[in-house]
Amino acid sequence: MHDITVRKVKFEFPDELDDILPGDDIDSETYRVGFSLTMPYLEPYLIRTYRELADDISDPELAGDVKNFIGQEAQHFQNHRRVNEMIKEQLGADIGDKLTAIEDELDADYRRFNATKSRRFNLVYAEGFEAMTCAMAIATFAEAEAGNGPGRFGKWQELYAWHAAEEIEHRTVAFDVYEHFEGSYAYRVAGSLRAQAHFHRYVDRFQRVLLRSLGQSTRPRRPPALGTPRPLYLRTFKRSYNPANIEVPALCNMVLGNYS
Ligand SMILES: [Fe+2]
Ligand SMILES: [Fe+2]
Repeated sequence: MHDITVRKVKFEFPDELDDILPGDDIDSETYRVGFSLTMPYLEPYLIRTYRELADDISDPELAGDVKNFIGQEAQHFQNHRRVNEMIKEQLGADIGDKLTAIEDELDADYRRFNATKSRRFNLVYAEGFEAMTCAMAIATFAEAEAGNGPGRFGKWQELYAWHAAEEIEHRTVAFDVYEHFEGSYAYRVAGSLRAQAHFHRYVDRFQRVLLRSLGQSTRPRRPPALGTPRPLYLRTFKRSYNPANIEVPALCNMVLGNYS
C-alpha cells in the first residue's frame, strides 16, 4: 500500500477572484480555468469507474490505495466545483451558460462511458489522464522550484498546488489498477492518447469561450508548463514506465505538509 493521505480541505475563495483571470498571462489563466471546469465531471467519472470494480480487486493493498484515491479525488472536484461556479457567475450569464452547455456535454460523455464502454476503456482513460496530470504536476513544481512560479499566490494557485501535490502522491493508483486488470502495453499507449485527446478537446472548447469573452483570438493556446511537457510526458509512453519510480519533488512534499 502506498502512502496516500485523504486530506479534507475546503478553500475559501475571495469574491473578487482577481487572482484567477488577472490578465497577466491569458494563455495560462484561461487554460487553468478550462482545466478546472472539467474537474467536477472527470473526477467523478474516475470515482465511478473505480467504485464499480472495487470489490473485484484481489490485492488488499491496491484496494486500499483505490479507496484513498477516491477520497482524494472527491475532495479535489468539490473545491473545483465551488470555484467554477464563482467564476461562471463573475463572467456573467451569457458566458456562464456557454460554459455550462459544454460541461453538460462532458458529463454526458463520461456517464455514457461508464454505462456503455468496456472496463479496459475506462481504466485506460483513467491511466492516460493520471499519467498526463502527474507529468504536468511535476513540471509545474519544477518551474516553481526554478523560480518561475505564478507571480501572485492566492487561493486559486493554492488550490492548484494542493491538487497537483496530491496527484503526484496518488500517481501509482491508476497505473496499478490498469496493470492489475488489463496490462496490455499497446492498449495503454493507444488508449491513453485517445483519452488525453478527448479530455483536451473539452479544455480547448472551454478555453475558446473564455478567450472570446476576453476579446482575444479564440485559438486555444496551451502554455508550455501546463500543456503536456515533453520529456516527462513522453516517458509515460515507454514500456518501462512505472509511476512508482518517479522522484517526488521536494516542493510537493512541502505543499502536502501544509495540509496534514
Ligand atoms: Fe484530482
Ligand atoms: Fe488523480
